[in-house]
Amino acid sequence: MKSRYEAAKNVFIDSIDIDDYIELESSVNAYKQLEHSIDKPLKMILLFGKPGTGKSILLNRIAKNLKYQKEIHYFDTPATNTKEFFHKLFKVLTKKDLPSHTEVNFSALVNFCKSLRGKREIIILLDEAQMYGPDMMEKIRLLSDTRAVKFIVSLHKTENEDLIAKEHFQSRIWEVIELKNASLNDLTQYVHKKLLKRNLFEVANSIQEKDMKLMYTFTNGNYRECNKLLFTIFEICEFYDKNEPSKINYDHIPQRIIEMSALKLGYIHV
Ligand SMILES: Nc1ncnc2c1ncn2[C@@H]1O[C@H](COP(=O)(O)OP(=O)(O)OP(=O)(O)O)[C@@H](O)[C@H]1O
Ligand SMILES: [Mg+2]
Repeated sequence: MKSRYEAAKNVFIDSIDIDDYIELESSVNAYKQLEHSIDKPLKMILLFGKPGTGKSILLNRIAKNLKYQKEIHYFDTPATNTKEFFHKLFKVLTKKDLPSHTEVNFSALVNFCKSLRGKREIIILLDEAQMYGPDMMEKIRLLSDTRAVKFIVSLHKTENEDLIAKEHFQSRIWEVIELKNASLNDLTQYVHKKLLKRNLFEVANSIQEKDMKLMYTFTNGNYRECNKLLFTIFEICEFYDKNEPSKINYDHIPQRIIEMSALKLGYIHV
């Protein structure tokens, strides 16, 4: 027989599938803020936050929701070469394909954008923008100056990059939206809603308030870390369920299993 924990485990595989999007207090706020900023006459908007705070899923969500109202395009992980990026941009802006061997003439593209001003407004969601070099960012800025293209630049901040990002963006802002780790309440909602969406009611009920508190101490409310922790917890539960069911309690996840998972993931050490 299949263990219920197998299904529960799979709920926490990291994904940015918008069908899995959950309305949480913090994500609803960030969404509203972003939607509002997009409507303002800004050239660029910065979406900022530590890895795993939900930037990509938010961008995907907004792209999907505004698809029929605006010219909005999501650009995922940057192409390693600039040529590929400008080809993609060229296509979005001109609605034409450029033969793959041809280089995009950047100043012609800027002029083309100038001619669009007031006629079209194209919104580009640039995910993982920490991977674009200074030259690329400068070109992106020049394009945004034409006011025909608006860029939402999503940057993931780590401790060191924090400063770089600030320096880079200070002089030319724009508006900054920061995504933070979840509160305990949001994280609890996140975990429960994810399980309930897959009809895993019993599993959801077996996670109690004190379990969530413990998980929160390990993950600090980071969604990606939380996914990893729950995946591991249910992986261990699945093992016991199949091999040593006496060690499992269906009403309640044993604290020991949460700690074993934290140990496995390196949140705690022996
Ligand atoms: N509101 C939400 N609803 C559903 N899942 C969410 C939500 N917020 C975050 N997540 C989940 O958290 C995980 C991390 O989110 P995401 O990949 O969007 O983070 P990120 O900020 O883009 O990280 P990185 O900087 O590393 O790219 C994903 O599995 C995502 O599905
Ligand atoms: Mg991301």
